[in-house]
Parts: sequence; structure tokens; C-alpha cells
Amino acid sequence: MSVDSRRVNDLESYWMPFTANRQFKAAPRMLVAAKGMHYTTHDGRTVLDGTAGLWCVNAGHGREPIVEAIRRQAGVMDFAPPFQVGHPQAFELASKVGDLLPGDLNRVFFTNSGSEAVDTALKIAIAYHRMRGEASRTRLIGRERGYHGVGFGGISVGGISPNRKHFGAMLPGVDHLPHTHDPMRNAFTRGQPEHGADKADALEAIIALHDPSTIAAVIVEPMAGSTGVLIPPRGYLERLRAICDRHGILLIFDEVITGFGRLGSAFATNLFGVVPDMVTMAKGLTNGAVPMGAVAVRQGIYDTFMDKSETPIELFHGYTYSAHPLACAAGMATLELYEREGLFARAAELSPAWEAMVHGLRNLPHVTDIRNLGLVAGIELEPRSGAPGARAFEAFTKAYEAGLLIRVTGDIIALSPPLIIETAQMDEIAETLISVLRSID
Ligand SMILES: Cc1ncc(COP(=O)(O)O)c(C=O)c1O
Repeated sequence: MSVDSRRVNDLESYWMPFTANRQFKAAPRMLVAAKGMHYTTHDGRTVLDGTAGLWCVNAGHGREPIVEAIRRQAGVMDFAPPFQVGHPQAFELASKVGDLLPGDLNRVFFTNSGSEAVDTALKIAIAYHRMRGEASRTRLIGRERGYHGVGFGGISVGGISPNRKHFGAMLPGVDHLPHTHDPMRNAFTRGQPEHGADKADALEAIIALHDPSTIAAVIVEPMAGSTGVLIPPRGYLERLRAICDRHGILLIFDEVITGFGRLGSAFATNLFGVVPDMVTMAKGLTNGAVPMGAVAVRQGIYDTFMDKSETPIELFHGYTYSAHPLACAAGMATLELYEREGLFARAAELSPAWEAMVHGLRNLPHVTDIRNLGLVAGIELEPRSGAPGARAFEAFTKAYEAGLLIRVTGDIIALSPPLIIETAQMDEIAETLISVLRSID
């Protein structure tokens, strides 16, 4: 195609993901550059990033050590096949990821996204039980309002109706725990809510229904991000862990959002002191700069495959771009940057100021709940009668026009800024939200 015939202003070809395409194409919001805490729009405006891109740019945008590592790696080796050959940075990054996790969560499988990490973890769970001679353990238990990406595994264990209803029967043998959101009892809680640990007991009922011998794994986000920042009640994750242990069921934490400092510690498992059998991650692993995901598994799971496999290849699973050299380079540079700047600790130190800022919005129009943990907050709005989501979407577009990027899900505003945010920028978020929420019906 000649340059002249390129349709540079044609917005039609690109089918945008999780986007109101028709609405967007009628009034586009284009980002053309990013640095530190800010995006630049196509018309030259600066937008404060209140969402770390999409929960991923934890060290802020365009960080030179990461950019340089990607540039350098592209010049040295662009690609290496991940099957039956390796490259040093993959091994180095796997060790470094394992070092961030508690206990023996130290064997790491690389993917290219959170969705692939989830599907990988679910497959490992089923194959693991089969390897150890319990092939009947194939059921997977997710949770209502869980988001685990968009693969068939992820939407099957996920608990978001619109993400499921268009896509047929999905995986068989899946059940769901109830979600833990309880605004009647927990509204305006700071940090972990008091009420709801007993919601974990529903797992006992599900196990009684299906029999433990049929269940491979339970997967939950330790803090549900995408459905509006649902923070685990005190004692809830501990109870899930105990029930899984009692019945020989693997527990998977999907830490695609909570990984890499978002809650003020490396992972949610470190913060809550509850250690799952597998952790899925992505996003902050490379600071969003190159797509990459991973699953960390407890060593005993890996060893089972090594000890019991009857074939030279122990796990028939992998991606062309598993441990892609550019992603590994970005990952190494990112983890070093987090460490050098102490960004996980910084998130913890900033969280009281963050908490005070978001709870200061309590008396604004439409606000029915505010919740927070680490550098995350959810602000729940009263839905407009007959138009769920419309009020928050208007808040999103108005905030964008006013120079602030927020994320909305249903009628919940989710905030998750880069961990380099300054307190003056927190105030800026508050000021913008005050004027936006006062200006909408
Ligand atoms: C908890 C969780 N799991 C999985 C995913 C899917 O990740 P990806 O969009 O990289 O496939 C996400 C994405 O937001 C997520 O929040």
C-alpha cells in the first residue's frame, strides 16, 4: 500500500476492545504520549493518570531504565524460541519473580497476558491432580464478580455476566462462590471490611455438593479490581485457605492487579499473609511496557511434574512468545526499578494520605460508598434510574475532559495511580472529582 493511500484518519478498521466503539468513534479520545504521571492527548492536553494506564504502569510512564533495556535487548536478540531452547534473561527474571513471593512459590511459567496466565494456572491445576493420580479432580471454582481475563477458562471461572452470556457454554464443571461485596454492612470502610469472612463458608457447601474428589482448584482475586475494588473482609482469605487445605484443593490467587506493589507490598499474598498454591500476574511485571504475564507455582507442584511425567516434555503447554526477550528485558529493568526506588514501600507510606483523600469525597452528590486499600480506591455512585453505568460513564468523560484519567466499571469509579504519585497530585484528583461529581445529574 502506498503512503498516499493509507487512511490515516479512518477510525473504522480498528475494533476496539471493551469499548463503546460507536460512541468512541463519534467523539474519539486519543492518547499520543506518556511521561511520568501524565498522558498527552492528540490535541496537546495533559491528562493526569489516575489508573496507572490499566492498573499496570506502577513506576510511571516512559521510565528511562525500562525504555533503555527494551532498546538494548531489541538490538542484541529480538526473539528466541521458548520451546527446547532458552535465553538467560528468562531464567533470571523467573528467579527474581520467585524472590518476591513468599514460601516456595518459586517456579515460574511465562505467558503474554493475564488471561493467558489464568488459563495456564487452571490447566496446571487439572494436570497436577492427574499427575498425582487424582484425575477425577477437574472442577474449578471461581467467584461471582471475579474477573480473570477473557480466555474461555477465565470467563468460565469469572463472575461477570456480560463477559459470559454471549459466549456459549464455556468450560464444563465450574461453580462459583458468592462475592463478598456487602455495602449494607461495610459501606465507607477504610481498608479491610469487618463483615463477610463467613462468605468463604459457601465453599464448604459447594464442596459438599460436588465432593472434594472432583475439585481441582479455587481461583479468586485477593482484591477484586475490575468489578469495582472489592476488598476482602478480614479473615476471609484465611478461611478459604483453610477449607482448600482441608479438602486437598489448590488455591490460586489472581494477582494480575494486586501484584507489584499496588496494595503496598510486593503481592497481596505478602500483605495478607495467606499463601496460595499459585499466583497469576501480568501488568506491573513489565510496568505495562511489553505484554507479559506469568504463573508462579509452589515448588511441590513443579516437582510433581518433574517426578511423575512419563514423557520428556512434562507440560504440553506454552506460547510462541513465552518469555519473549523484550518482555524479559523490560521485566528485569522494571523489578530493579521498583526495588531501587522502594516503590512498594512508597505505596504503603502514601496509603494513609490516599485513604484520607478518597474518603474526603464522601459527601459529594451520588456517592454511596468509598473503599480503599494500598493505592487503590473504589467510589460507588448511585446508578441513574433505568440507565445503569450512565452516571459513571459521564463522570469518566467529564474527568477526561478536565484532565484526569479514571476508570469506571458499572457505576463504580476505580482509582489506581502509578506508585510515584505525589500528594499534590492526589489533591488534584480530588479537586477534579469534586467538580465532576457536582456537575453531573
Ligand atoms: C485479576 C485479573 N486477571 C486477569 C486479567 C486479564 O489480564 P489481560 O487483560 O492481560 O489478559 C485482568 C485484567 O485486568 C485482571 O484484572
